[in-house]
Amino acid sequence: MPGQIAIYLIAGARPNFMKIAPLWHALKPLESRFETRIVHTGQHYDFSMSDIFLKNLGLPTPDFSLGVGSGTHGFQTGQVLIKMEQLLLQKPPALVVVVGDVNSTIAAALAAAKLNIPVAHIEAGLRSFDMTMPEEINRILTDRISDLLFASEPSGTVNLKNEGINEERVYLVGNLMIDSLKNNLREIRNNGTAEKLNLKGKKFGLVTMHRPSNVDNRPCLEVLLSILKQAASQDELVFPIHPRTRKNLNTFGLENEFNSIKNLKMIGPVGYFDFINLMISSSFILTDSGGIQEESTWLGIPCITLRDNTERPLTVEKGTNRITGLDLAKVSSALDWARHFDKAGYTPPPLWDGNASKRVVQILNNFFDNR
Ligand code: UD1
Ligand code: UDP
Repeated sequence: MPGQIAIYLIAGARPNFMKIAPLWHALKPLESRFETRIVHTGQHYDFSMSDIFLKNLGLPTPDFSLGVGSGTHGFQTGQVLIKMEQLLLQKPPALVVVVGDVNSTIAAALAAAKLNIPVAHIEAGLRSFDMTMPEEINRILTDRISDLLFASEPSGTVNLKNEGINEERVYLVGNLMIDSLKNNLREIRNNGTAEKLNLKGKKFGLVTMHRPSNVDNRPCLEVLLSILKQAASQDELVFPIHPRTRKNLNTFGLENEFNSIKNLKMIGPVGYFDFINLMISSSFILTDSGGIQEESTWLGIPCITLRDNTERPLTVEKGTNRITGLDLAKVSSALDWARHFDKAGYTPPPLWDGNASKRVVQILNNFFDNR
């Protein structure tokens, strides 16, 4: 349509789809003003890491697929940068929207910024203050070159201010990932995965683990093994395994040891509805994921975070998240806390209300009105 404002939503890895989906749905009714296009970088490509999310979240086939695939940080980031630049030169949009903190996020933002195309960053300002985490580097650099910074929690705005980012660019809009969760809750409840796995009505723990610092080395995987043995001595566990972790269990010859833990169900990565169905049915979570700390906080389910820090301090302040690292004693006491967790009177963070994407669209409308 002539005169439309083209917006590219960038997604590449599993945790990106639930962040672009609500924005895509909120922009769709505004087609006379905005031409919204999805760019899939191809960082994740297995059906269970990518297409299942498009399907679950009602997203169309991406308009552009860059097909970058796996590789070292330099290779993967470089491929997205090159392919994104080619696309932006051929068909320049008025805005590039990036989400989260993966390699696709910084690479797409960098390609746009170098061509003077405005960049909006969803989930801006989160900081773990741990520069050994690849995501922390991606977060800081993406924020530095973004024109619109949308924070999901108050710590994000504080961190950005401390880094000298112009406050006029920063908006506390709430959590778009929670828009996806809240808006699909009925379908998720009816999804039946916990039932299929014979876990419905049981007390069980949901496990995920994929951070390189935890799964790329044998000693850490051995500690995880001990943690899971301890947790499984009291409760059943289900562990949808990330491809990185599966590969490493195999490389270090630990698959059989994990498989032999009684009460532990090891399954492949599952789709969004399947996973959240497991989450709402579980009584506690053991994870090193970023997004899962937030989803469990919204649901009021105790989460034990197997990392030494979090970039999402609100989850700890709300009392649903404990940071234990791979410290067996801390995990053991957190398991005790989780088993006695009382949700009565719990309320989720105020701006995690299912309307964050609407607030973003309002700000985008103003942004383009004033240009
Ligand atoms: C990436 C993100 C991380 C995010 C995670 C979400 C970066 C630096 N890391 O980590 O922040 O938390 O995604 O899941 O961007 N693989 C497959 N199939 C796939 C995708 C990956 O088998 O569809 C395997 C490949 O062996 C690949 C490995 O997983 O080398 C790691 O994938 P990669 O995208 O590099 O990093 P993640 O660990 O997934
Ligand atoms: N998730 C999923 N299936 C799984 C594991 C996770 O659908 O098997 C969802 C989870 O509910 C959350 C997102 O994927 O919405 C988090 O992705 P991940 O943990 O891979 O990345 P991170 O948030 O750590 O970057």
